[in-house]
Amino acid sequence: MDVFHTILSFRGALRNERAQGKRIGFVPTMGNLHDAHLELIKTARRSNDIVVCSIFVNGLQFGLNEDWDKYPRTFEADCDKLRSVGCDYLFHPDDNEMYPNGLDKQTRVICATMADVLCGASRPGHFEGVTTVVSKLFNIVQPDEAIFGAKDFQQLAIIRRMVEDLCIPVTITAAPIHREADGLAMSSRNSFITERERPLVNQLNKSLNWVAEQIKNGNKDFIALEAEARKQIETVGLRPDYITVCNSKTLEHAAVDDTDLAVLGAVYTSGARLIDNVELG
Ligand code: PAJ
Repeated sequence: MDVFHTILSFRGALRNERAQGKRIGFVPTMGNLHDAHLELIKTARRSNDIVVCSIFVNGLQFGLNEDWDKYPRTFEADCDKLRSVGCDYLFHPDDNEMYPNGLDKQTRVICATMADVLCGASRPGHFEGVTTVVSKLFNIVQPDEAIFGAKDFQQLAIIRRMVEDLCIPVTITAAPIHREADGLAMSSRNSFITERERPLVNQLNKSLNWVAEQIKNGNKDFIALEAEARKQIETVGLRPDYITVCNSKTLEHAAVDDTDLAVLGAVYTSGARLIDNVELG
């Protein structure tokens, strides 16, 4: 695996591959890689000639009180994992390479209406940081396909919208949520869950599945279902941020005649904020 730190050298390598007609698959990450990230790389491997990963802990998507400086940085271990699943190129820029004019002066990409609801409501500016860095990374890599995890459902929906709205020539592929044995969605932030809370946190997944089951059985009183799921989560001692049944494309609150629904949720533990979702086709 070749590692690049500058846009110029990285583009040179990719230009050679593209000139040979190679199809490029791309998996953007913030590092601290776990099995779920590696599944994304394997997905890219299956349908592309060249697999590219990026590791960049993007300051623009962290709020002032969030964990940018605490975010685990495990570069050497990440490289070993990427090699083990056949990643060809890793792009690992520093802040100055990605934001030479500074964060404040950076031109932004904003996805109207979808960025300030759900996770965006409690993390102002977060999705603006995501769409800005992902569009920069798309311009740098110019991949044929980019793979994102369905765990970050809102992120995936926003990126799909950004690609559509800005006519970015890339196919977005969703990889299914990768879970621990008890149902907890894998996440770099799971390392912040305390031992006491660890057996409790899969209540989020249980309650989202409960809501999905109720809907499948014909219950369309979404507001009541959301309230009951919140109660279930509070009962085990966790603090829900939101539990919402929404239209999976627009992220608007579900209407009774919507066919593609998703149940999204976020909870606070003492040291982490965890998200999960269940899709109803
Ligand atoms: P990061 O949190 O490192 O996640 C990188 C990719 O891994 C994302 O597409 C995310 O959805 C996926 N992923 C993480 N945990 C997963 C799980 N349990 N199952 C399936 N997929 C999972 O998401 C980001 O980084 C950043 O916002 C980024 C897109 C890189 C922009 O900075």
